[in-house]
Amino acid sequence: MPARTYVALNRKGGVGKTSTCFHWGGELARRGQRVLLIDLDPQRNLTDKLLMDPETGEVPEVPYEETVAALFDPEVYVEDRASLVRPTRHANVSVLPGAHRMEHLNMGNPATDDRQLVLRDFVDEVRDRFDSIICDCPPNIMIGSWAAMAAGDGVIVPLQAEDFGAMGLKLLNESLVQVRREANPGLALLGYLLMMYDDKSPLHRAYAQTIRDSYPGRVLETAVPVSRDLKMAVTTGLPITLFKPRSKAAKVMQALCDELLARDGSAELKEVA
Ligand SMILES: Nc1ncnc2c1ncn2[C@@H]1O[C@H](COP(=O)(O)OP(=O)(O)OP(=O)(O)O)[C@@H](O)[C@H]1O
Ligand SMILES: [Mg+2]
Repeated sequence: MPARTYVALNRKGGVGKTSTCFHWGGELARRGQRVLLIDLDPQRNLTDKLLMDPETGEVPEVPYEETVAALFDPEVYVEDRASLVRPTRHANVSVLPGAHRMEHLNMGNPATDDRQLVLRDFVDEVRDRFDSIICDCPPNIMIGSWAAMAAGDGVIVPLQAEDFGAMGLKLLNESLVQVRREANPGLALLGYLLMMYDDKSPLHRAYAQTIRDSYPGRVLETAVPVSRDLKMAVTTGLPITLFKPRSKAAKVMQALCDELLARDGSAELKEVA
C-alpha cells in the first residue's frame, strides 16, 4: 500500500508540532512502519533532532540543494528528487531535511502560488517506499504548509490549552477548506491534539471543555501531558517510546498513535473544518 501522508499544522508557534511529528513518527517506525518525515520549517528543529549525533550533539550540514527547499526553489534543479530523502540513525525513519534558507521562499499568497503541488508530486514519487509520511510545518500558512495540505491525507493540529480566542484555529480552518476546494478534496482533519495539557489546571480543563463543546468530534481523546520525559527524549534525539518505553508519556504517545490510526480514513473527517 502506498504511504498515508499527514500534516502537523498550527499557525501558532511552540504548540508542539515538531514534538508530535518526532514522537509519533518514531512510534510508527517502532511498530515496523517505514516512515518519512518532511521538515518544512526553516527553523529545522525536526531535521536537527533526527540527524544529530547522540554522542557529540553535532548536526551535519546539509547542502541547501539537498533539502526540501530544492522542491520549492526554481533556481535549484534536482535530477533525482527521491535522492533527497536521507536515512536517519533510527531504523525505518528517513528524513527530507529542512533548510534555514527556505525562509525566503515563504512569501506571497500561497493560494495563487504555482508551487502548491510540488510536494504532492514529490510524495507521489516516493509513496511506494514508505508507509507513513509526516510533514512538520512552520507556524504559519505560507507556501510550505499550503503545499503540505495539498499533498496530505490528514491534518493534525496540536494546540496548547491556553488560546481561548482560538482565532488562529478559525483561520486555519478557512485555509483547510480552501485547499480542499481548490487542490485536495480528500484532505481530512484528523483532529485537534491537546498538547502540554495539565489536567490539574482549572484553566486547561476549562479550555478542553470549551473546545470539545465548540468543535464536537474534532478534538482527539488523547491529550499529551506536560512531560519532562518527552522533553528529555527530544534532547537526546530519541522518540519517547524508545527513550523510556514504560513512561506515562510513552503510553500516551502509543494511545495517540492508535487513535490516529483508527481515525485515519474515516469519511466524515473529510467534511469537517
Ligand atoms: N508534552 C510536552 N511536555 C513538555 N514539553 C513539551 C511538550 N511538547 C512540547 N514540548 C516542548 O515545547 C517546546 C515547543 O515544542 P515544539 O518545538 O514541538 O513546538 P512547535 O509547535 O513545533 O514550535 P514551532 O512553531 O516553533 O515550530 C519544545 O521545547 C518542546 O520540547
Ligand atoms: Mg516546530
